[in-house]
Amino acid sequence: VGEALAEGPLSGKHILLTSGPTHEPIDPVRYIANRSSGAQGTALARALMGLGASVTFVTGPALVPPPAGASVVKVETARQMHEAVFAALPADAAVFAAAVADWRVVDASDKKIKKDGSGRIAPLEFTENPDILAEVSKSPQRPGLVIGFAAETNDLIAHAEAKLKRKGCDWIIANDVSPETGIMGGSENAVTILTAAGADALPRMSKDQVAQQLAARIAEALR
Ligand code: CTP
Ligand code: CA
Repeated sequence: VGEALAEGPLSGKHILLTSGPTHEPIDPVRYIANRSSGAQGTALARALMGLGASVTFVTGPALVPPPAGASVVKVETARQMHEAVFAALPADAAVFAAAVADWRVVDASDKKIKKDGSGRIAPLEFTENPDILAEVSKSPQRPGLVIGFAAETNDLIAHAEAKLKRKGCDWIIANDVSPETGIMGGSENAVTILTAAGADALPRMSKDQVAQQLAARIAEALR
């Protein structure tokens, strides 16, 4: 558990965050992954610590450095993230900002796969990774507040509502990441907070400002 950096409404609270992508090896030099800089998760960790929370930050290989002052657990794969998350429980709240790779290669090669001159690669067999958020939501160790993210390119609210129900979490932070928004890889975000009570669309603002808004709402919910 990270040290609290400040006194505030979240003093004494332990918050678990996942952030960044996961990398699933194909062979020792290649992997599959989702796009994720880790910027929004890192900003949220900072905002939560600013309100007094102790943060455990489980992160895949992100582009931005992890937040200073958090207890940082670095992982590569979804299965490692899964293990690190359960090892970090209990927590008062858990926020799943990571872009977890949905599939991994069944038998990743322990040697570099070589081109064979055929112009083709032998088909890769994939299997689904554990759904970390859904498992935490259903576990006996479930934190009182469980928050997921949903990055979508279309039918944002319908997809996010389905995820809220399917995963058994309390909130879904939904955002439209279709290429024309420039949100993926950018410094701004526009999120809609979905709860059982309905949808609350925040205006587009910096990722730091989104983080502050979310942290304030989390503090309110844990009061
Ligand atoms: N998540 C997770 N473990 C996974 C997949 C997703 O913890 N194996 C979490 C993400 O961190 C996010 C939420 O679940 O908070 C939604 O992720 P998303 O990829 O949008 O949902 P999926 O159920 O994987 O649906 P799809 O990718 O098909 O849209
Ligand atoms: Ca997914």
